Amino acid sequence: MIEFILNNKHICTKEPVGKSLLDFIRYTMDLPGTKSGCREGDCGACTVMEGSLIDNELNYKTIVSCLTPLGNVQGKHIVTIEGLNMNHLSPAQQAIVEHGGTQCGFCTPGFVVSLTNQSLSKEVGNPDKALAAIDGNICRCTGYKSIERAAKSLADSFNGEKNSLANLVEQGHLPKYFMGIADRLQQLKTNQKQVGNSAVILGGGTDLLVQKADGIIEDELDFLSGRNELKGIQIQDNICKIGAATTAAEISNSVELQKYFPHLKSDFKLISSTPIRNMGTIGGNLANASPIGDLSIFFLALDTEIQLQDKEGTKRNIPLKEFFIDYKKLDLHSDEYIQHIAFRIPEKNEYFNFEKVSKRQHLDIASVNTAIRIRIKNESIVEASLSAGGVSPIPLQLSKTASFLVGKKLKEETILEANKIMQSEISPISDIRGSDTYKRLLLRQLFFAHFMKLFPAKISFGKLFALTNQQKL
Ligand SMILES: Cc1cc2nc3c(=O)[nH]c(=O)nc-3n(C[C@H](O)[C@H](O)[C@H](O)COP(=O)(O)OP(=O)(O)OC[C@H]3O[C@@H](n4cnc5c(N)ncnc54)[C@H](O)[C@@H]3O)c2cc1C
Ligand code: FES
Ligand code: FES
Repeated sequence: MIEFILNNKHICTKEPVGKSLLDFIRYTMDLPGTKSGCREGDCGACTVMEGSLIDNELNYKTIVSCLTPLGNVQGKHIVTIEGLNMNHLSPAQQAIVEHGGTQCGFCTPGFVVSLTNQSLSKEVGNPDKALAAIDGNICRCTGYKSIERAAKSLADSFNGEKNSLANLVEQGHLPKYFMGIADRLQQLKTNQKQVGNSAVILGGGTDLLVQKADGIIEDELDFLSGRNELKGIQIQDNICKIGAATTAAEISNSVELQKYFPHLKSDFKLISSTPIRNMGTIGGNLANASPIGDLSIFFLALDTEIQLQDKEGTKRNIPLKEFFIDYKKLDLHSDEYIQHIAFRIPEKNEYFNFEKVSKRQHLDIASVNTAIRIRIKNESIVEASLSAGGVSPIPLQLSKTASFLVGKKLKEETILEANKIMQSEISPISDIRGSDTYKRLLLRQLFFAHFMKLFPAKISFGKLFALTNQQKL
């Protein structure tokens, strides 16, 4: 039995836990405002708000309902466009109208839901953040400029005002029933139950529901996202532990982690879109074993260790690089799941950088991605770790290249020599994301970018470029 609040209505349903929230909203509840577009998380037409109590505080985020199994909304407040409609147009709806941000209207509910959710965010009033909030919504009619103007004007309209729930209700952004939601959610249980050994493990569902949406409807599912012991980020004695059910958004928004990774937010902005980052977990990213998984590449360069646990509670720790055995083949027993990851926080003289190139800048998976962690002392490299995706059947730790770098002077000639070794460590194939030659070239350029970004006073693009012209791939 799944219990949650849909708009202002208490839901208690025996529908299969693997059924998509989108189908439940549209076909069981007959609420057609939430649109069914791609059903793969790409278009945002099915975007809804998900509210939950975190430390007794009501928090909202956007999710795509097409990739959300019903089991993941246990104990939550789900808001569709119908749940935002009032007798008047809300400021988000009004902004879309005034700026001509709708034509055929298919995408409009998704945009309004995303913009309304942004009005509840701590970053309200910032036009750039308002644009970022609609990065998961696609429109094929308007050419976006009118929607962008609507988003910016809505952000400007806040003018430094506080956006408490009470204020938003009073100013007509949200219907009155929102004021009673926190109390109503207190009465509902979240999904914390662990199930049998044969259950299919599910994090955010952003991979599983794309791969086999219909295939899991009747399966027994183990919903890790509801289990608090698998969530959260802890830093103690310089070791950072991240629970497997922690989402990409929770990692990127961690103020504590941002201290050690100043570019964390902009790096993670290159991963999928706001709603997908709100749903997809670190455990799911590692376990789907994609050779271009962004989180796999990010955490490989940090020499991350993962803790696996079977359903009897037996634990084992392995280095992340040993987790990936072959294409989509993992060192993971059938009754095991990832419990958490752990890595050492970079120290003062250590530097970290992540690079990703994809066909589109946003909402696209990588053609090639790479990360580096490097420690420098007296202008020499004393420690290095390097990872790369899209250049082998698995997310790769480039151990030979990293070993070569250690003990060398930080200079252009070292980087060029290291590139030769790196090229011997990879085996890219030609596919839809580019030819093997292109991927080799791309990794070389991203490798250079690591050094140019981290050491702009030491590594000159001009010299690298001149030396490169003398070196064949
Ligand atoms: C539109 C779209 C864009 C995307 N863009 C990107 C991108 O830019 N970069 C990127 O890297 N990925 C991207 N992805 C892929 C996906 O969002 C991520 O890989 C995400 O982190 C998967 O996490 P999840 O919790 O949703 O996985 P789920 O779908 O829940 O699970 C994926 C697999 O992992 C298993 N699993 C989940 N958790 C665990 C665990 N703790 N232990 C063991 N097994 C587990 C599941 O059984 C399943 O086989 C995108 C996906 C979509 C739909
Ligand atoms: S239908 Fe396109 S994201 Fe859900
Ligand atoms: S108005 Fe037609 S898809 Fe956006």
